[in-house]
Amino acid sequence: MEQQKRYGHFDDQHREYVITDPQTPWPWINYLGNEDFFSLISNTAGGYSFYKDAKFRRITRYRYNNVPMDNGGRYFYIKDGDTVWNPGWKPCKTPLDFYECRHGMSYTRITGRKNGVEASVLFFVPLKKWCEVQKLTLTNNSSETKHLKLFSFEEWCLWNAATDMENFQRNFSTGEVEIEGSTIYHKTEYRERRNHYAFYHVNTAIQGFDTDRETFVGLYNEFADPQAVMEGKPRNSHAHGWSPIASHYIEVTLAPGESKDFVFLLGYIENEQDKKFESLQVINKDKAHALIAELDTTEKVDKAFAELCEYWDALLNIYKVRTGNDKLDRMVNIWNQYQCMVTFNFSRSASFFESGVGRGMGFRDSNQDLVGFVHQIPPRARQRIIDIASTQFPDGGCYHQYQPLTKRGNNDIGGGFNDDPCWLIFGTVAYIKETGDFSILDEMVPFDNQPGSEVTLFEHLKISMDHVIKNLGPHMLPLIGRADWNDCLNLNCFSWDPNESFQTTENVSEGTKAESLMIAGLFVVTGKDYVALCKKIANGQWSMVNGQCDFADEAARMQKAVDEMIEAVKKHGWDGEWYLRAYDFYGRKIGSNECEEAKIFIESQGWCTMAEIGAEDGMVAKSLDSCKKYLECEHGMVLNNPAFTKYIYEYGEISSYPEGYKENAGIFCHNNPWVIIGECIAGRGNDAWSHYAKILPSYVEEKYQTLHKVEPYVNCQMVAGKDAFRPGEGKNSWLTGTAAWMWYTVSEFILGIKPDYDGIRIDPCLPETATDYTVSRKFRDAEYEITIHPNGAQKGVKSITLDGQPIQGTVIPYSAGKHVVEVTM
Ligand code: BGC
Repeated sequence: MEQQKRYGHFDDQHREYVITDPQTPWPWINYLGNEDFFSLISNTAGGYSFYKDAKFRRITRYRYNNVPMDNGGRYFYIKDGDTVWNPGWKPCKTPLDFYECRHGMSYTRITGRKNGVEASVLFFVPLKKWCEVQKLTLTNNSSETKHLKLFSFEEWCLWNAATDMENFQRNFSTGEVEIEGSTIYHKTEYRERRNHYAFYHVNTAIQGFDTDRETFVGLYNEFADPQAVMEGKPRNSHAHGWSPIASHYIEVTLAPGESKDFVFLLGYIENEQDKKFESLQVINKDKAHALIAELDTTEKVDKAFAELCEYWDALLNIYKVRTGNDKLDRMVNIWNQYQCMVTFNFSRSASFFESGVGRGMGFRDSNQDLVGFVHQIPPRARQRIIDIASTQFPDGGCYHQYQPLTKRGNNDIGGGFNDDPCWLIFGTVAYIKETGDFSILDEMVPFDNQPGSEVTLFEHLKISMDHVIKNLGPHMLPLIGRADWNDCLNLNCFSWDPNESFQTTENVSEGTKAESLMIAGLFVVTGKDYVALCKKIANGQWSMVNGQCDFADEAARMQKAVDEMIEAVKKHGWDGEWYLRAYDFYGRKIGSNECEEAKIFIESQGWCTMAEIGAEDGMVAKSLDSCKKYLECEHGMVLNNPAFTKYIYEYGEISSYPEGYKENAGIFCHNNPWVIIGECIAGRGNDAWSHYAKILPSYVEEKYQTLHKVEPYVNCQMVAGKDAFRPGEGKNSWLTGTAAWMWYTVSEFILGIKPDYDGIRIDPCLPETATDYTVSRKFRDAEYEITIHPNGAQKGVKSITLDGQPIQGTVIPYSAGKHVVEVTM
C-alpha cells in the first residue's frame, strides 16, 4: 500500500485533532457554539457565524465553492516590516516558520510563527452567550523590539444568507454601520423591521478602522493583499451601502520576550421593539456594552473558556470506555460523541457541503440524530421531540423538514415521505429509555403547529404507526410515497425534465404499486418498540393524564400489524439470498437477482435483519452473507450492487449519479451501521467489527488522509464506492446521520450497554480478539462502572454481578448511586 501524506494527528489527552500543514486536501473544519450562536471555522480560519438559523440570521458572509476554496473568514493580518502574514497561513499564504491548528471540543486554536513573532488565536463561543471570542496572543520571541501593524477583518452578511448572494440591486444600497470607540456595529436593515444588530469589538484602543470592503481591499485586490494592509494604512472608511465589513487597526510594540493579549468579540444583539434606538438612527447599544463588559479582559475570557471545557468534560463523562485500543477509545469517548452533538445542533443545515440556505431540520434526520445525543442533554432531546411532532399532520404524515427559527414545516418540500412517521417512535422510545420520563407521552402537541389541534404525544405515535398501516400496497407492504430513507429512490416521480426536483415534483400516488421493504423493516423494528411501550403503560408503569387508550388492546392491535408485516416480507420481500428493496410503480421487483443492475440494496438488508425477519428460516444469515459478498469493499459497504449505469425513469434520482457516488453505489456511511447492528443481533461479532472498523474515522485516518480528503476525525456522509473513479474518497463531512448511527451501534450493540426502561441491558457483540474492557456509564441518577470479560466469545452474557451480588437476566435494574458491575461472557 502506498504511504499517504499526513496532515495531522490526534491528541487524545487534550481531545484535539492537531493539523500541522495548512494545505489539507480539503478545508478541515470545526464547529463553535452549543445552543444559539454558532460558527464554522476551517483550519485556516475560514468560515462564518450565525445566530440560530444559518439562513435567516447569517452574521458574517461566506462564498461557497469559491476559487480559491474556502476564502473569507475571520482574518488577522500582521504587518511586520514588509512582511504581511496570517496566523492561519491564509489568505496571504506567506510561508510560515510554524503552523498549527488544534480543533477541540467547540473551540479552535490556530498558531502561526513568522520572523520571531508568534500569533496564536483561540476561537470559541462562550456558553450561553451570543458571541464568538477570538483571543489573539502576540509574542515576540526575537531579540529585537517589534513594531507590528495588526489588522482584523470580518465581512458582514446582510442577514438573509440566500438573498445576500442574489439581490444585489437592493443589497448594495442597504448596508449601514456605526463606529463607536473600538466597536464596529453592523446595523443593516435595523431601521426597518429588524430588531437585531451585530458588532465586532476589540478590548484595546485602536488607531484606525475600515468598514467599507472596497476601500479596505481595493477593487482589484484580494483578501490576500488588501490595499490598506499592504500599505499599512487604514482608511477609516464608513460604509454606506455596498459591502460593509469590520476591520480594526492596532499598532503593537513588543519588546523581546514580551507577549500581549487582544480579545476580539463578534457579537449579536436583539433589542425590544420600543428600545431599539437611542436617538434618531442611533442604535441602542446597552446590551452590546453589557456583553462586551462580560468579556473584556484576558481573565474573563479564560474563565469563560474554562467553563466551556468543564461543560465538555461533563458531557463526555457520561459514557466512557477503556478498551486499550486507542483508535476505538478516542472515537467512542471523544469524536463520535462530539460529532453527534454538532449534528444534533445543525441537522443538515450548515457545513462546507451544506450552504445553510437550502434545508431546514429534517423530520427523519432529527429523530435519528437524537439517538446520538439523548444521553448527553436529555431535556434538549425532549424539546426536539415536541418540536418535530408539532410538524406532523393529523393523518400521521409529516412535513419532511422544518425551519429552526420558526419551527414551522417547510412548504417548499412538503410531506409524503412515508418512512418519516416511524422515526418519531424511534426517537421517542430512545428518549424514554434513557430518562425513564414517560411524562413526555402526556405532552399536548399540535398538528402542523396549529393552536387548538393539540393531542398527546402518545397519540402522535399512534397515528404514526397507523399511517404505515393505512398506506399499504398490493403486497401488503408499505407504500413508499415520495421516497423512504433513500431520498433518491423516487418511484412515483417520473421525470424527464432536468428543471424539476426529484423530491418535490408531483408524487404520482394514484394507482401506484410502489412499496418499500426498507419501511417494512423499519415498521417491524419500531412497531416492536411501540408494542413494548404500550405494554409498559398497560402494566402500570405510567398512567396517562391527558389521553385515554386501552393500552393492552393497543399493544395487541399493533402486534398483529407487526406480525402481518413480517409475513408480508417473508412472502413477497425475499429474493432467495437477500431481501428485495422495493416494488416499483407497476409492481415490478427492485433489488432482485432478476434485475439487470442494482440487484441488491443495503437498506432493506439492514432493516430486515435488525427486525430479524425470517431469522428462523435462515433469511437473516443469508442476507448478511450477501452484504459481505456483494456490497462490501475495502472502504465499507456500498449502497447497491451493481451500480446503475443508465438513468431509469421509473427510479428517479438514484440512477442519475455516476457509478459509485452518493445513492448510486456509494458507501453511504449512514446505512452501514444498520447491517452492523443486524450482524450484532445475529451474534456475528467478527463481521460486525470488520464492517465497523472500515468506516471508523480513526482507522481511516491512519491509512488514507490524502485519498479520503475530508476531516479524518469525523464521519462523512459518503465515501466513493468500489465502482467510482476514486474509491475511498470522502465527501460531505460532519452533518450526517452516520454520527448517531455509529454511536448507537458501538455504544449499544458492540460494547453492549443498552439503556432500557427499567435499567441497563448488557448485551455486547464483539470480535473474538476483544479483551476485557470497562465502560463508565452515567444513567439517570446512577453511575455504573461496568467491566466486561469477553473470554473470546462473540456474543452471549453468562453471568452478571451487581455490587458483588449475582443478578438474574441481563438487565441491571436501575437504582440511584454508584454501582460496580462485572459481566462474564
Ligand atoms: C438526507 C437523509 C436521507 C439520506 C439518503 C441525506 O442527505 O439528509 O434524509 O435519508 O440523504 O438519501
